[in-house]
Amino acid sequence: MTLHLKMDEPVDRDRLEDMVQGVIGEPIDRPEGELKVTGRAPYAMEQLPENCHHGVLVRSTISKGRLADLDKTTIEALPGIRLVVTDRRLLRNPAQGMAGEAPVQETDNIHFFGQPVALVVAETFEQARHGAQRIVQQLQADTKVVVNPDDPEAEIETPRKKQASTGDLDKAMREAAFTVDQHYTTPGHVSAAMEPHASLASWDGDSLTLHGSYQMLRFNRAELADALGIDEDKVRILAPYVGGGFGSKLGIAPEAVAAAIASKELGVPVAVAMTRQNVFEMVLRRSETSQRIRLAADKEGRLIGIGHEALVSNLPDESFSEPVTQATPFLYRGENRLIGHRIARIHRTPAGSVRAPGEAVGLTALEIALDELAEVSGIDPVELRLRNIPEEDPSQGIPFSSHTLAEALTTGAERFGWESRDPKPGTVREGEWMIGLGMASAARVNMLIESKARVTLTSEGRAVVETDMTDIGTGTYAVLSQLAAEMLGLPMTEVETRLGDTGLPPASGSGGSFGAASNGTAVFLACEEIRRQICEKLTCEPDDLTLKDGHAIVGNRRVPLAEMLDGAELSAEGHTEPGDAEDKVRQATYGSYFAEVAVNAVTGETRVRRMLGVFAAGRILNAKTARSQCLGGMTFGIGMALTEELLHDKRDGHIVNRDFAEYHLPVNADVPQIDIVLLEERDRWANPLQAKGIGELGICGAAAAVVNAVHNATGVRVRDLPATLDKVIGGL
Ligand code: MOS
Repeated sequence: MTLHLKMDEPVDRDRLEDMVQGVIGEPIDRPEGELKVTGRAPYAMEQLPENCHHGVLVRSTISKGRLADLDKTTIEALPGIRLVVTDRRLLRNPAQGMAGEAPVQETDNIHFFGQPVALVVAETFEQARHGAQRIVQQLQADTKVVVNPDDPEAEIETPRKKQASTGDLDKAMREAAFTVDQHYTTPGHVSAAMEPHASLASWDGDSLTLHGSYQMLRFNRAELADALGIDEDKVRILAPYVGGGFGSKLGIAPEAVAAAIASKELGVPVAVAMTRQNVFEMVLRRSETSQRIRLAADKEGRLIGIGHEALVSNLPDESFSEPVTQATPFLYRGENRLIGHRIARIHRTPAGSVRAPGEAVGLTALEIALDELAEVSGIDPVELRLRNIPEEDPSQGIPFSSHTLAEALTTGAERFGWESRDPKPGTVREGEWMIGLGMASAARVNMLIESKARVTLTSEGRAVVETDMTDIGTGTYAVLSQLAAEMLGLPMTEVETRLGDTGLPPASGSGGSFGAASNGTAVFLACEEIRRQICEKLTCEPDDLTLKDGHAIVGNRRVPLAEMLDGAELSAEGHTEPGDAEDKVRQATYGSYFAEVAVNAVTGETRVRRMLGVFAAGRILNAKTARSQCLGGMTFGIGMALTEELLHDKRDGHIVNRDFAEYHLPVNADVPQIDIVLLEERDRWANPLQAKGIGELGICGAAAAVVNAVHNATGVRVRDLPATLDKVIGGL
């Protein structure tokens, strides 16, 4: 039996509130946590069979042109080498998220430096690497290649659907009491998941099994099958544990297809793990952005105009473009609005989804601009934002499903001690350290994605949750187990959640912060159906049934579930999909950030001393995993503000800093104790759980709080991120 729900209307009842097990929302440890921290959770490369061969990807060393030839035979004669794959089915780059079909497959047509062109397969990894390093490519490089978005010869695309304008922004700018008109730039980012992309392929006849590291298995299966030219039902992908994704594992990547082709040809399992350098060069990057923001406000600081125009980049034929202005249309009031979006077509590693595509960089720029408006108008930054919270989505005229920005701002300001801030920059000093406070708003769109799950109540009265959903470090095992435990009245120890297998009901996958809410809804629906089946057995009404600690309670009857089941089991599927709700209301999550920094007056170095994030994302399913997501997001925010930046060589676009020694993510010493407050909220429009996505909220605008604090400390306004010391010291 399947219980199906299309979200057309708000839910009329908070069903989880009726439940009495008391586990939902609790800060429960991850059920798989011990396996992970003791190294016993098998990731893709940790279950290699005896006869497994190893493949190493070969990269192009030009940014555009043709691969004329490879010295295949010389390499195949080296010790241990079994095969050099130059199959036309090899992928040029990973699929974009939710593509469901193969990305571009042309390895002899070079479009970017570092593009995979071949796979060398050997008996050992070392032999394969040796072969890949020795291989000689005959490359015909194009003479003129555009690799920089600001190259005057870059082709600039202006997609009509991504421009929007209401009112007259120019007029608003002329008539405003206070204005800001500035350019902001953010560099490219790489997802930098701890576990590099890795696939182990093996065939049984014409059926392929792939142990991989992926975020969205139902899409990945379709992409892999399409790339290989085989039926989807001949492909099984297993990814029970995934060491981080951040967008980079949304779509099937070159190593998976290469491993599958090699394994088929050799008749042995083949494992291909990307090196860290491969990951930087071959996996979709976040585009650098150049943004112009215009703000026009009346003398009370009320916005009468907002303009946000962005230039991003991608390869000529890639459809994705960083949705920089995603939250700008609805975050603040203002009747004159302009949104612009342009794409420079350049030959760098293609761009795709990375950690909150859109808001992460777009809100960062917008929130620095708001700080500039606070400065010119003399209005406190928190107060300025409070004055500009709209009644309804100002660009579409539709209501908000819920709106918590004001509460996030006031709660944060009070908890952080914001009133102690001196608005005059450069006034607080401790020895050679200049101290400053900054803040920013957070917002992220909320989505529901079609998702299925199966729940079985075994004859022993235990629950098993099954779906092809992934846990990419986000806490999926925990929250799905909690939902089933809560709905079926079971202790957590009596629930087992099985994930990451395309043989199981297809889920939303992990991405866009929608995983827990979408797939959690599917689990919830399956449990509702099981509850209905229990009522049938006990001949009672759903409202009269209480499930707790493995017992069904109806009136004064209290029956152990196993006894009630009498050797049988109950099973049900839940199926949810988005409906009209998305169009009837604007759904989003909100928050606020507050940061205290110390900037060294001698070196220009910035240290973040304290940071607070206040977030509301509907019902919180697990207070610990939700908090951890926010900690991670804010940590990335600190990196985005101060150190993180993908650097491309201006001449050929190759990535210069393609490892963690040169690509500076924040480390422990860079991150202070971060304080997180999760606000109590329900959103009836989101789903029956009334939970919204929290995964990416913590990075949306976080960097602006830090950069704004640097300004308060020093008076230096950095508009070109990251705010490295060279950019700060010049202004001191
Ligand atoms: Mo996300 S960047 O959709 O994993």
